[in-house]
Amino acid sequence: MEWSILNEKRRSVNFFDPDVSITVADIRRIYEAAKLAPSSFNLQPWKIVIVLSQEEKEKLRAVAMNQPKVTEASAVLVLFGNTRQYEESRDVFDDRVSKGYMPAEAVPKTMAAAEKLYSGDRAVGFVSRNVGLFAMNFMLAALDQGWDTHPMDGFDVDGVRRLFGLDPKYLPVMLIAIGKKRPDAVLRPRGMRRAFEEVCLVR
Ligand SMILES: Cc1cc2nc3c(=O)[nH]c(=O)nc-3n(C[C@H](O)[C@H](O)[C@H](O)COP(=O)(O)O)c2cc1C
Repeated sequence: MEWSILNEKRRSVNFFDPDVSITVADIRRIYEAAKLAPSSFNLQPWKIVIVLSQEEKEKLRAVAMNQPKVTEASAVLVLFGNTRQYEESRDVFDDRVSKGYMPAEAVPKTMAAAEKLYSGDRAVGFVSRNVGLFAMNFMLAALDQGWDTHPMDGFDVDGVRRLFGLDPKYLPVMLIAIGKKRPDAVLRPRGMRRAFEEVCLVR
């Protein structure tokens, strides 16, 4: 689908058809498109838990403000950001060396620069920016492949952490419910958007 059409058609779909299921293969296909999202130093600091089972969806709903779409959607993706990805990205820099984009000697210095930029107080901003961009790409790719989505940050961060038990370096950033809109559901017209003049400052 052309980007302008995808952009117009993408909505946060509140009402999913609970009878529609999605497979890991379907989600993998969407991921393959979404992974082309840009990221700081190409570090790709996203880690995704795909919640497919109804039992796990129920548990997730309990820590996600009891939002019905969590259990009605075909799956819910829990997008975590790796706040220490700079330590685990040797592969990204080795790839750049092998392609001739940087000399091997520059790798330690570049990894140190990434650590300085994205660690400590800057880690939350780092994962939020990068996972957010990935999420947008994922939602547009999903729609292109016939799937509706709904992003959510209405969840208890500690509750989500506890539920999945990942290393604390993984910060839950966003949930994305994915499925197909219930055929009888009518979405409200889209909410207002701010005008260029309100948003943009020209200097
Ligand atoms: C980061 C993020 C978090 C959101 N969290 C929730 C949420 O927890 N629950 C909800 O009902 N909608 C949530 N939304 C959906 C927004 O309300 C929705 O995107 C906005 O109203 C615009 O509607 P549209 O996506 O249909 O254009 C979230 C959207 C974003 C981008």
